[in-house]
Amino acid sequence: MIKRNILIASAFFSFSVGIAQQYGGMWIPTELNEKEMKDLGMKISAKDIFNTQKPSIKDAVVQFNGGCTAEIISPKGLLLTNHHCGYSQIQSHSTVQNDLLSNGFWAKNNSEELANPGVTVDFIVDIKDVTKEILEGNPNLETAQINANIQKVQSTIKTEPGQKVMVKSMYYGNKYYAFVTDTFKDIRLVGAPPQSIGKFGSDTDNWVWPRHTGDFSMFRIYADKNNRPAEYSKDNVPYVPKHYLPVSIKDKKENDFTFVFGFPGRTTEYLPSIAVDKIMRDTDPARIAVRDVALKTLDEKMRADDATRIKYASKYASVANYWKKWIGEVEGLKKSNAVQKKATYEQTLISKNPDIKITLDQLTQLYNEQAPYALNNAYYTETIRNAETLALANLFSNYIAAVESGKMDEKNTVAFKNRLASFYKDYSAELDAKVTAKLLALYANKTAPTYLPAGFEKYKNEAQNLQTIENLSKNSVITGRSEVNGASLSSDIDKAFSNPDQLVTAIKKDEMYILFNSLKDTYSKTADKQYTSLQTKIDVLQKKFMAQQMETDKERKFFPDANSTMRVTYGKVKGSSPRDAVSYDFQTHLSGVIEKYVPGDYEFDVPQKLVDLYNKKDYGIYKDKSGDVPVGFTATNHTTGGNSGSPALDAQGNLVGLNFDRQWEGTMSDINYDPRFSRNIMVDTKYILFVIDKFADSKWLVDEMKIVK
Ligand code: ARG
Ligand code: ASP
Repeated sequence: MIKRNILIASAFFSFSVGIAQQYGGMWIPTELNEKEMKDLGMKISAKDIFNTQKPSIKDAVVQFNGGCTAEIISPKGLLLTNHHCGYSQIQSHSTVQNDLLSNGFWAKNNSEELANPGVTVDFIVDIKDVTKEILEGNPNLETAQINANIQKVQSTIKTEPGQKVMVKSMYYGNKYYAFVTDTFKDIRLVGAPPQSIGKFGSDTDNWVWPRHTGDFSMFRIYADKNNRPAEYSKDNVPYVPKHYLPVSIKDKKENDFTFVFGFPGRTTEYLPSIAVDKIMRDTDPARIAVRDVALKTLDEKMRADDATRIKYASKYASVANYWKKWIGEVEGLKKSNAVQKKATYEQTLISKNPDIKITLDQLTQLYNEQAPYALNNAYYTETIRNAETLALANLFSNYIAAVESGKMDEKNTVAFKNRLASFYKDYSAELDAKVTAKLLALYANKTAPTYLPAGFEKYKNEAQNLQTIENLSKNSVITGRSEVNGASLSSDIDKAFSNPDQLVTAIKKDEMYILFNSLKDTYSKTADKQYTSLQTKIDVLQKKFMAQQMETDKERKFFPDANSTMRVTYGKVKGSSPRDAVSYDFQTHLSGVIEKYVPGDYEFDVPQKLVDLYNKKDYGIYKDKSGDVPVGFTATNHTTGGNSGSPALDAQGNLVGLNFDRQWEGTMSDINYDPRFSRNIMVDTKYILFVIDKFADSKWLVDEMKIVK
């Protein structure tokens, strides 16, 4: 409708002026652009967000188990993160009789909370710019000296017992920051909704807006009696945080200020146009093509056979996640004209500083030279990842190398065997023989002959491959279909390892293993070595290009690319208009869950109790002024993988949502954030509390929190 489009256009214009809205931004929390945040509506100060002298919001935000973010929402260390972040913990407590993934889990009191050995959360105690100490004022300092300086800084910063210092390079090595961290190790599962809420919509809805997933789970941090980190002990007590986030259940409005605090993993926002062009044309499509084949092959079998579906559910989701992201990324790069936009920007830079042309010409030449190797790298790495039998062969190849160089002691062997055992648990050799056969055919067809082992052409024929690989698989020790030391690796790993020399000899004679090795060998000699050495040269120039961009474009404020360190990103609650005649509202509701409901479906089933609550309109204080319960919402925050579980906060620093995804049309934000289409997706706090209180009858958890009405 025209009226709505005019509204969007004018709203877009009015917010497109700020830096955060133009280029996105994942800012180091000690270097926030307070003025811009306040102009956008923030009511608190940068000091309320990050402060080492007194409690601040950063004291409530932790990195969850190395890969996600979580936040503290009660004075008793109650932790909120995504369902997909706590997935493997929830799974690990599940049995066939007591399937927590399907049924959900809710502790009724502290004593019912479940321990998760190995799970950690990291607090950030302090962040320091240590560029001077690391680079000694010399931007071209040698790597060895830089590493020595990093060691020195890590050992000289004063910390409390148990704390660690980690130095991270920023802006491609133009700056360095030290992060002091505190790691807690007793993290217990408190609650999780059933998958039909926590993973509602599954892969079909993944990366998609409008979204109706209640992607949350709850944990609790435990500490020793001095409130310090400790290994699990029944004597540990709930951690008392310096700060915890009040939870707001106020209605949201479009254009409300919001910021997201978390640990984004990796972005590449400052690549030259040539690099973006290569990703868009070569490497993303190659990765997508390999996963296309793998996913189709798995899906066929998973649909036909329940046991396979359960075995491969988690693996399938993980392969599908980035497959779908890359498809969105390529589309988004095209649609946002990313290459042209970067090229134009480069011309502007060159007009101010002609030296930049030299850097860019060199980069262009290197990227062109690297292109065939990069393409081979994409096909090879994806083939090895998705053809599990080849991944397995790769593990054995590393094992044999370790054995032969005397590095395989008792402890390493146990670790290796454990790793194998968990691999075989969810592995179907027959199914993977099909995947491997098809991927090898794709690899043979897509790879230039110079990068292929002699005689590899014979794998081009897929139908023939299915036969050949099935035969190899059947007779192979590593697939577990053939015995060694009188046992199969997949059913009795201890017995199969009882005579390690015999095992190594058998593997070396294994034809599947030989096939993999020839592939790997040729790849490393003909492509990987060249790829890596060119990448080293590119890295040196990228560092220079980054420095030149920062020196030349004085008006622009540059944020460092994400590197799993703590960041703040900010923006506004907003819908979008990603395609002609399509416009998205910023908010979804419970009625939308019911609209998508397909009884019995593995992605869109809904628990009966939720349907009942909906039918009775039993929403308590969790409905909004429309009378419905808000479920998800979008905003212009610039987020990426690792931001899952991050708190979305309002102008006052209250929790208003839980970040878990981005909308598909904007996933190129990792390379080219575009305020028109890039949106992060959050679960609304109202839905989270509604599920805890009304669905799970766990009001005791809500009572722990500070609710802002
Ligand atoms: N796309 C989100 C992220 O990258 C969520 C992934 C989990 N959900 C799924 N259906 N695989 O992590
Ligand atoms: N889903 C992602 C995560 O798990 C977040 C994103 O990529 O937007 O971190």
